[in-house]
Amino acid sequence: MSEQDKVFIFDTTLRDGEQSPGATMSHAEKLEIAGLLDEMGVDIIEAGFPIASEGDFAAVKAISEQAKTSVICGLARANLKDIDRCWEAVKHAKQPRIHTFIGTSPLHRAIPDLTMDEMADRIHETVTHARNLCDNVQWSPMDATRTEEDYLCRTVEIAIKAGATTINIPDTVGYTAPRESAALIQMLLERVPGADEIIFATHCHNDLGMATANSLAAVEAGARQVECTINGLGERAGNTALEEVVMALKVRNDIMPYRTGIDSTKLMNISRRVASVSGFAVQFNKAIVGKNAFAHESGIHQDGMLKNAETFEIMRPADVGLSETNIVMGKHSGRAALRSKLAELGFDLGDNQLKDVFVRFKALADQKKEVYDEDLIALMQTGDAEE
Ligand code: KIV
Ligand code: ZN
Repeated sequence: MSEQDKVFIFDTTLRDGEQSPGATMSHAEKLEIAGLLDEMGVDIIEAGFPIASEGDFAAVKAISEQAKTSVICGLARANLKDIDRCWEAVKHAKQPRIHTFIGTSPLHRAIPDLTMDEMADRIHETVTHARNLCDNVQWSPMDATRTEEDYLCRTVEIAIKAGATTINIPDTVGYTAPRESAALIQMLLERVPGADEIIFATHCHNDLGMATANSLAAVEAGARQVECTINGLGERAGNTALEEVVMALKVRNDIMPYRTGIDSTKLMNISRRVASVSGFAVQFNKAIVGKNAFAHESGIHQDGMLKNAETFEIMRPADVGLSETNIVMGKHSGRAALRSKLAELGFDLGDNQLKDVFVRFKALADQKKEVYDEDLIALMQTGDAEE
């Protein structure tokens, strides 16, 4: 496979994901998640929206300082103040990126009530300004999938001429369908001068449950960056789930011959950490990382699985970092089993912490036949609240 076939993974858990009402993460939690994303091989981490608050600025700056290999990106609206603030936060990264956007659909551009010429000037001015600060600039026409084609082509062309290196095409309200998603990228590649010199990104929301399908369709049409979040965290019905795109490209490489740089064995751990710090539990039947994604209950399935795992599994649990052994926790379990189970759930404890949790775990186990993963997570969260 050539460089052409590489799909860049842009994770926006810490920006679009955190915009889910109630998903706010602490500074330390954001740094931890960013570290895991970096280690897992995420190409670009959108670390936040620096002008949104002092806390967001501080988190983006600290993530920029900590990052080892990922590009660190910050979001900015289409004005010079936002862009300057964004640059102040991301400039500490080895590889910084400024991401600036403006709404281009009739509904969105009516709010500041810009004429086409005013819109063109605004895009030219802001992208040029960002490019004077940073070599790596991403531009997004928000609500692109509900923007008229001619209008979209014109704005994308202006952004490319002003120096944008990545053009992101957001399906802001999760309105598009897979065939349209592909046709839009193909149309832009064919019609916009200079389109072959930049990377097109796809950024899908999941309002109709089509975010992953739309993202993959865009890749097949030529997009080479997928914007996504862990567990599909994001406003309303969320964003494209990173784990779904990565595993779909891996498992169905026969028909989608593209590669990502993601170490898929780290997916389960980061999924659990994001669920824990955001407070958004993963639904049991969620693809790839749900509790039941590799569980089998019916007799026929269990029988098939015992003879040949491929009968009912298209991926091996180990491919996503799930140990095949199901440790059942109860009152006879010891400290080592508790430590290993908690580590599997994303909690790495020191000896003193483990001692305390073990006492509370034993008290709980005395009242129940089996202590489930959710009980342990709740036990850990109660412990946090008491600290
Ligand atoms: O969904 C969206 O349009 C966005 C933009 C800011 C890129 O998140
Ligand atoms: Zn979005």
